[in-house]
Amino acid sequence: MRRGSIASLLGLGIVAGGITAAVALALPWLPKPASNEADRIDFLFWFVIVICIVIFALVASVLAYSILRFRAAPDDESDGPSIHGHTGLEIWWTLIPTILVTAIGIVSAIVLARDDNLGKHYFRVNVTAQQFAWSFTYPNSHNLTSGTLRLPRGRSVELVFTSKDVIHSFWVSEFSQKQDTVPGLTTRLHITPKRLGTFDVICTELCGLGHAVMRTEAIVMTPAAFDKWANAQAQAVTSPNTTVAGAAVFKNNGCGACHTLTAAGSSATVGPDLDKLPTYAQTAGKPLPDFVRQSVVDPNAYIAPGYPKNVMPQTFGQSLSKQQLDALVQYLISSSKKG
Ligand code: CUA
Repeated sequence: MRRGSIASLLGLGIVAGGITAAVALALPWLPKPASNEADRIDFLFWFVIVICIVIFALVASVLAYSILRFRAAPDDESDGPSIHGHTGLEIWWTLIPTILVTAIGIVSAIVLARDDNLGKHYFRVNVTAQQFAWSFTYPNSHNLTSGTLRLPRGRSVELVFTSKDVIHSFWVSEFSQKQDTVPGLTTRLHITPKRLGTFDVICTELCGLGHAVMRTEAIVMTPAAFDKWANAQAQAVTSPNTTVAGAAVFKNNGCGACHTLTAAGSSATVGPDLDKLPTYAQTAGKPLPDFVRQSVVDPNAYIAPGYPKNVMPQTFGQSLSKQQLDALVQYLISSSKKG
């Protein structure tokens, strides 16, 4: 090969590789990782991307060089020379891809194995998916239930998923992992949060009418703040003061994500405005306490005009203890009268 050819090939390769690398680096393809697992997945992603850029630059430069250098003249109708191929080249273009694909396989297997490794001291959170809400229970922290996923930073966390109705899918983009929740099966996901912050939890499986509103937040806290939160919640939920207990049940179960309730500082409009409960009770022709209790336990019994059926989680009432349900009903009655 002539020196000029090598220089041209190299030049084309640098141009093709440079453009591809610029596209890869300039655009924010992946969110900033917020867990150790996401870090490893990020590494694997870039490991594959770098290989792809090098191969692309190589192929693109050879292709461009061949098109420019060996193009037939407009009046040249002759066949090209009859050649048999090149055994040496064939060995290389078989060997190099084999090595690369094997390397990707090995690195992927290591990342998967390490991401799945819970270690000895892990922390468990039971996740229940139902049309159309997430709920998180902490068996190691007073069996607390929360509508937002709170996690202590740096702890190895096992999320254990069950679904009460159809297939949902748990996704926090900053954690880089997705897990389906399947009725009749228990599925799991391992996360070690490493970055403080609030991240969106999104359902990514079309699960019915309220699929788009099946969202909540994952809040990564320092271990001390997490313990403080867990203890305060446990105390509030069991408080003899029904306003305190009811407000805690309302907040922990994420009611404010869909409903307006001035007393709770929420102004969402997915579901009926809970400040107007007395008006709704009147329309339904029921005493306020009975109406509120029924609406929590059997949400389809009365549907406020303009709102669809089946969007409020049907079994939400059953997931509360009697004490929690009483507190919530009391709280809703007293807050809506004020509002
Ligand atoms: Cu649950 Cu979509």
